[in-house]
Amino acid sequence: MRRLALKLFATAAAVLTPSLVAQAAMPRPAIEEMASKLASELARVCPQASYGDAAAFKSCSGALSQASFLPFATDVLWGGDQATQKIKKKHLTHFSPKVFQSLYLPLMTFTGKWSIAHDDRENLDIIKVEAYFRNELPAGEYPYPFWHSAAKWNAYEVMNQVSFYLNEKGQIFVITRGDTGSNAGKGQYAHVNHEPFQKDRWLWTDDNGQQQPEVTLFSARYQGSNPHHQRLDQTYRAFAASMREASCVGCHNPSNPQDMEWLTLLQTPVHAAAEIENVIKEVEDGSMPQDELGLKKAIDPKLKASILRTAQAFRNELAAADAWESSRPNRDAVASSTDQKATRAR
Ligand code: HEC
Repeated sequence: MRRLALKLFATAAAVLTPSLVAQAAMPRPAIEEMASKLASELARVCPQASYGDAAAFKSCSGALSQASFLPFATDVLWGGDQATQKIKKKHLTHFSPKVFQSLYLPLMTFTGKWSIAHDDRENLDIIKVEAYFRNELPAGEYPYPFWHSAAKWNAYEVMNQVSFYLNEKGQIFVITRGDTGSNAGKGQYAHVNHEPFQKDRWLWTDDNGQQQPEVTLFSARYQGSNPHHQRLDQTYRAFAASMREASCVGCHNPSNPQDMEWLTLLQTPVHAAAEIENVIKEVEDGSMPQDELGLKKAIDPKLKASILRTAQAFRNELAAADAWESSRPNRDAVASSTDQKATRAR
């Protein structure tokens, strides 16, 4: 959390030092313009749809994973409103913007309605947009079974608003969901019971032999023709095995047994990939792993070396796969040109 706190709040100085409060806020017209653009773009790519509409979800997640209209800071935190807690005390999960916008944000539909609020205590501007949660998608479309906790699943089902907190550069650095907005645009909504979660099964194989959650696998993030798939898989597996030896995922998973205020998730390929630089830094300087009391835990130097070696190999492969991806037309372009061909053929 220390490293993360520095990264997130180095710019949002007001949060750490309330005496700087006066200089943080953006001019109101600028915030209004930003809010209106954000809300209308979200509603354009992820409009209201029935809450189990898989095609609407795919189209939304395809658009959001490529979207550049979301002015995120380099790191973001996501979780429930927890209105009475200051940000430092809220239980939130840390994400790279890329993971948040491609895996989490698409789970919501947007109506285009928005409002602005100001958190006087922390002197932060907040853009609130109306949003409802897609609760009827197949299990593998959620980055992990949110229903591992009945309270969490319920909080998602009753949510009707997403709040984007702006730092003083006008970047979004904290995003929360809450139920103090309006349900007027929600339409028909029924509680869903997914198959009961089996303890610690954050990854599983479904009845068709497909690994799940699909959205957290490299196949969701990279095109099928990316030549790095196999090496990515191999380097990830080696890294995951060394993390297992150091019990990293025992703490870094959604059930958050250590009650971290800002949780780092490492339990799936895409989550681990997004944290790989942080992992290398934490292990290199001996901050991780820690023990149940939060004290640095000395590990066998061989294990430490093996975590670092496998983490670096995985990181290098990710970089190569990313580079290949950005040198190629994106999936949407490929898909739409295929559509065009199909249309022409007809
Ligand atoms: C006993 C529980 C536990 C274990 C085991 C553990 N961690 Fe952590 N980890 C934590 C807690 C708690 C934090 C929050 C940091 C803090 O406030 O000190 C954290 C923070 C982190 C962070 C984020 C740090 C930041 O501020 O950016 C990373 C990355 C991380 N751990 C990686 C690992 C890796 C890799 C392993 C295995 C080698 C591991 N952890 C093992 C409990 C654990």
